[in-house]
Amino acid sequence: MTTDPSTAADGLSELMIQALERLCIDLALAAGRLIRDDRPRHVGVAATKSTDTDVVTVMDQRSEALLHRLIRSARPDDGVLGEEGVDVVGTSGLTWVIDPIDGTVNYLYDIPAYAVSVAVVTGDARTDGAWRPVAGAVCDPCRRVVHHARRGGGAWSRPEPGDGTDHPGAGDPERLTVSSEDRLGRALLATGFGYDPEVRARQAEVLRHVLPQVRDIRRIGSAALDLVRVAEGTVDAYAESGINAWDLAAGWLIVEEAGGLVVGQGSHPGKALTVAAGRGLIEPLRALFQPARH
Ligand code: IPD
Repeated sequence: MTTDPSTAADGLSELMIQALERLCIDLALAAGRLIRDDRPRHVGVAATKSTDTDVVTVMDQRSEALLHRLIRSARPDDGVLGEEGVDVVGTSGLTWVIDPIDGTVNYLYDIPAYAVSVAVVTGDARTDGAWRPVAGAVCDPCRRVVHHARRGGGAWSRPEPGDGTDHPGAGDPERLTVSSEDRLGRALLATGFGYDPEVRARQAEVLRHVLPQVRDIRRIGSAALDLVRVAEGTVDAYAESGINAWDLAAGWLIVEEAGGLVVGQGSHPGKALTVAAGRGLIEPLRALFQPARH
C-alpha cells in the first residue's frame, strides 16, 4: 500500500520506513519460529531477574542472540536494546527495541500465549517519554501470525509464510481496527501484573476498584499480545503499570495504526502507566488507573 510521504516519521523517507517495517516482520518471524520449533519439552530456567519468579529461559537468550545477530548484519549502525541484556548505543539515531519472548511464564508452562516483539524507534529508548516507534512487528508463533505496522501505513496481521491454510489466521493480510466500544461497563479489559510482590499488591488494590466498573478483565500474560488484541478488537482495552519499552514498543504503534490511542500518566506510555484503547474509552480508563484515585 502507498502512504503520503508527508506522514514519514522523524525525517525518514517513506521507502526507508517501509524497509524497516519489512525487517521488523522478518526478524519477528525468524525468532518466533525459533522459539516455537526449538522449544524443549522441558524448558529450563537459565537465570532469574527482579524476583525468583521473573525468569529467563535458554530460549529467551537464544532468541535475543538471533535477533541481535540479524540486526547487526542488516543495520550495523543502529542501536539495540533487548530485554535480556543486549544494550548497544548506535550512531544512526535508530534503536531496535526487542523482546525475545514476551510471555516468558506462559512459555515456561507451555501455555500458547507468548510472542516476539521487534520495533525500531527514534529518540532515547532508555528513557520513558523520550522515544517513539517508527515500525514494529509482534509475531504470535502459536497462532502463526505476525502483526505489524509502520507509522502512517496502517496496522496489519498476516499469516506466517510457508504455512498451509488449515489454521486460523491463514490467508491474505488483514487490516486491524480497534473496537468501537465506548461504554466502560461493556469493555473487556486486558491487564497484567509485575513480578515484585509489593507492586502486585498495589495492582490488586487498583483492580479492586476497576473490576466492578468493566465487563471483565483478562490476564493473558503477554503485554505485546494484549496490545495486539486491542488493535484487532478482540479485547476493548489494555492497561498496566510497570511495563518496559520492549513490552510495548511494537504494540504501541500497532494500536495507533489500528485507530486507537496509547497513553500513560501523560501522553507517553511507559513504566508509570500504559493504557491502550479506542478513543471513547481512553480517558475514562486512564482516570480509573491513576494511582491518586486508590
Ligand atoms: C511480562 C508480560 C506480562 C506483563 C509483565 C511483563 P515477560 O513480560 O508481558 O504480561 O504483565 O508486566 O513483564 O517477562 O513475559 O517478557
